[in-house]
Amino acid sequence: MNPNSNLRLEIIHRPRRLRRTANLRRLVRETRLSTDHLIAPLFVCEGEDIAEAIESMPGQNRLSVDRLVAEARHLHELGIPGIALFPRVPDDQKDSTATEAMNTDGLIPRAIRAVKEATPDLLVITDVALDPYSSDGHDGIVRGGRVVNDETLDILARMAVVQAAAGADIIAPSDMMDGRVAAIREALDVAGYTDVSILAYTAKYASAFYGPFRDALDSAPREVEDIPRDKKTYQMDPANSREAVRELMLDIEEGADMVMVKPALPYLDIIHRVKDVADVPVAAYHVSGEYAMIMAAARNGWLDERDAALEALLGIRRAGADIILTYFAAKAAAWLQEQD
Ligand code: PBG
Repeated sequence: MNPNSNLRLEIIHRPRRLRRTANLRRLVRETRLSTDHLIAPLFVCEGEDIAEAIESMPGQNRLSVDRLVAEARHLHELGIPGIALFPRVPDDQKDSTATEAMNTDGLIPRAIRAVKEATPDLLVITDVALDPYSSDGHDGIVRGGRVVNDETLDILARMAVVQAAAGADIIAPSDMMDGRVAAIREALDVAGYTDVSILAYTAKYASAFYGPFRDALDSAPREVEDIPRDKKTYQMDPANSREAVRELMLDIEEGADMVMVKPALPYLDIIHRVKDVADVPVAAYHVSGEYAMIMAAARNGWLDERDAALEALLGIRRAGADIILTYFAAKAAAWLQEQD
């Protein structure tokens, strides 16, 4: 109190008392970020001994299968529970029905087998959507100027079975076609893969933040049949929130074991809302554009990379995410080890 003032301060509640020392703050901390929650997305390409830098995602590379296996070992040693794989498919293997997506000896099945052989405990999550395999760059089949739903389901289901047969632990449909979780669940069960789980991209928004990812895979929608070069007829409108709950109900009804919100930071309210009503684990995808923003600012000296990344991930956890897919996974795991 100011000794020259005769004002007697009677502030009873002083929240600052619990912020006084590091141990006090540790004691009352509500949310924790741990390596247990992190999944590392990785990009795979053909070839040998290749780690090709992705310009818009500093620190991330397209890895040939041998280098992918080395990275998987490293992530496993860091204590990261799993990886999510995405293929860079050569242009000459793309066609309008994404035939390559069902090739049992394709890049992804070979990558899964190699990783599972080297690190059997590391969870392998695979993406189900046609875009990296489609000459149109859409998540479904394009016909008559539209991305057709039901015809796409059959390919998605067959693709999921190919991935499960190669050893994938978790199948993650990111295509946003209606009814795809049910179609995939049925196909997996019929093929005998009742133990393979489904992580549904439940509330996946038509977002500008996927740009760097599409650079990495060369998977952006192409000029076809007058259909717009965006994904707004299947991915969700960023303006909508109630609709996420509707998608959630459908995915759970159809058999999703886990659900996802994507992107993460511009959609923290959606993560919170989904977590409130979901009775399954909720994942959030801290996507390529969110990663690129932090990296670009950090490289300019405008942000501290470590502090900004850890704060972003903690915020995603605080909003309600049980699982976070993030390109910061390896670095965060190392940073969290230093903290302990
Ligand atoms: C494929 C897919 C996308 C992402 C994950 N799976 C791109 C898209 O839908 O266009 C984006 C991930 C990221 O930006 O990090 N359907």
